[in-house]
Amino acid sequence: MAQTTSGHVKNFELNKFASDSELAHSVASLWLDKVRDDFLQKVPHSVALSGGRITGKFFSEIVRQAGLRNLSLHHIDFFWADERCVPPGDPESNFALANRTLFQPLKIAEEKIHRLCGELEPASAVEKANRAIRKMVPANAAGEPVLTTVFLGVGEDGHVASLFPNASREMNDSKEAFYFVENSPKPPPRRITLSYAALAAAREVWVIASGKGKESVLIESLSENGQTPLARVVKSRQMTKVFTDLSVQ
Ligand code: 6PG
Repeated sequence: MAQTTSGHVKNFELNKFASDSELAHSVASLWLDKVRDDFLQKVPHSVALSGGRITGKFFSEIVRQAGLRNLSLHHIDFFWADERCVPPGDPESNFALANRTLFQPLKIAEEKIHRLCGELEPASAVEKANRAIRKMVPANAAGEPVLTTVFLGVGEDGHVASLFPNASREMNDSKEAFYFVENSPKPPPRRITLSYAALAAAREVWVIASGKGKESVLIESLSENGQTPLARVVKSRQMTKVFTDLSVQ
């Protein structure tokens, strides 16, 4: 664990890139290295995906590089960090984007795709999602599912997944893996999100911070007294990897 000059234990790793293309290329390559290592060691690998503007480019890079490596992703269990409460074919659906740019090109089997069912009544969708992740993902001593890798984007307000600054304490302190958000400031307002508890428990959380105008919120989120949702996630974990094309020091 790196120490900063102030003796503060550094619980994040900041990796900077010159462009969103280089960012997408490098994160895809690093993740595929981990997928390959886990496969060789016969370690199950589960991943939770996010939405966001760089996601399509990132997924296309995964497909391109997996093809070049002749690396199968068929053994991976795919989850989401969040999903909008819309049908799976809706342009706003995070599943729709992943299905088009990742699952169909990679021929991922349906039983490996654990979709958050945005078309269902939220309570039913949340119950289904929590049942699926508890069934498919090994739990830690506290009974929390330990996802292998969670990919997060970050918003201009420092939100990650659908964990927003306006969330209630009750929501923020949820011990369930997933819960319903009905007042997202980022449209659409109704979403299902991984909880802070699930993000704290994950083996790896990789934040892909891209998009102009997020420089100051990223700096704040990584500072010792950061108050954003991303700051809360970083503080809850021993290590969070941050990958960015933003010009931050
Ligand atoms: C969502 C995302 C959300 C996203 C950030 C960043 O479903 O909206 O999961 O958390 O990752 O808002 O999105 P941009 O990169 O497009 O700003």
